[in-house]
Amino acid sequence: MEREKVLDVKNLYAVFKIQKKEYEVLHDISFDVHRNETVCIVGESGCGKSVTTLCVMGLLPKNGRVISGSIEVDGTDLTKLSANEVRKFRGKKMGMIFQEPMTALNPLLTIGYQLRENLMLHRLVDKKTADKMAVEYLTKVGIANPESRLKQYPFQLSGGLRQRVLIAMVLSAQPDLLIADEPTTALDVTIQKQVLSLLNGLKKDMNAGIMFITHDLGVVAEIADKVVVLYAGRKVEEGSAQQVFNDPRHPYTVGLMKAVPNVDKDEFVIEPIPGMFPNITEEIPGCRFNPRCAYTKQCPLCTKEAPEMLEVEPGHFVACHLVKENAQ
Ligand SMILES: Nc1ncnc2c1ncn2[C@@H]1O[C@H](COP(=O)(O)OP(=O)(O)O)[C@@H](O)[C@H]1O
Ligand SMILES: [Mg+2]
Repeated sequence: MEREKVLDVKNLYAVFKIQKKEYEVLHDISFDVHRNETVCIVGESGCGKSVTTLCVMGLLPKNGRVISGSIEVDGTDLTKLSANEVRKFRGKKMGMIFQEPMTALNPLLTIGYQLRENLMLHRLVDKKTADKMAVEYLTKVGIANPESRLKQYPFQLSGGLRQRVLIAMVLSAQPDLLIADEPTTALDVTIQKQVLSLLNGLKKDMNAGIMFITHDLGVVAEIADKVVVLYAGRKVEEGSAQQVFNDPRHPYTVGLMKAVPNVDKDEFVIEPIPGMFPNITEEIPGCRFNPRCAYTKQCPLCTKEAPEMLEVEPGHFVACHLVKENAQ
């Protein structure tokens, strides 16, 4: 059975204006998210992960602009809506969790007050019902003694608890699409694992699609159904988690995999990909990865032409001249 698509990003191009000149930050980005599916967008810092989420949420900073492409959420193309319409749509259909939950919680109001208001707004329930549901939602996200927690202010909670409260808040609005941008990056490893397994456990219950942004492949391994690898604003590989982890094809993805800390040996040997990550103002002809790629010398096309996406097996896509050459 074909699952319902909640997010469909097609051929998205975006730019930032820096000192009167526009520079491309996203180039032809396409991916989709279905209900009950977690899609991880991965890549080194600066590759365009957050900008992608900001485009989807209609929250690009003032100097940024979507040039072309479409962003459909539940079949509605957000690029065709006014800022006001996008805001309304976002409130109804999308939930967001970020690295720092404090930016989404009001420091001056108790957790209980904020959850209750949120429930009354999104679920159209009365105050009494909302209070009862607030307890249920805190329980759902694994918070002990929910009644006493509801009386507390955000600053009285640890970072991990705050993130759980925010997840409860987002879930209680029943979004179709949950967007998480590095939500566990600021947490210590144990708490991070707990929050990830919480999200995994809630996935079915939510019946939402999850777009999960991370630079951490350990996190990806834990939660992804599908993986989209970005490099310098372009998609270089996409596939099921299994395909990308067991059989990475793009030299960049292969390099990223080597950078995964070795959990079995209980040590963190990170082997970074050699070379510098490009700035968006840098022009690189051909494949954007070519200055750092070990195969560039063997393949003259790499410095001349941008590689096209090739489907190497069903559902597994790679943009690399060498992969294409070897496939032929
Ligand atoms: N407001 C902005 N103005 C100009 N450049 C920006 C702005 N925000 C982000 N960038 C640049 O866009 C690129 C992608 O950034 P981002 O999406 O935040 O990366 P990440 O993958 O780490 O989330 C980076 O090169 C970053 O420096
Ligand atoms: Mg980011």
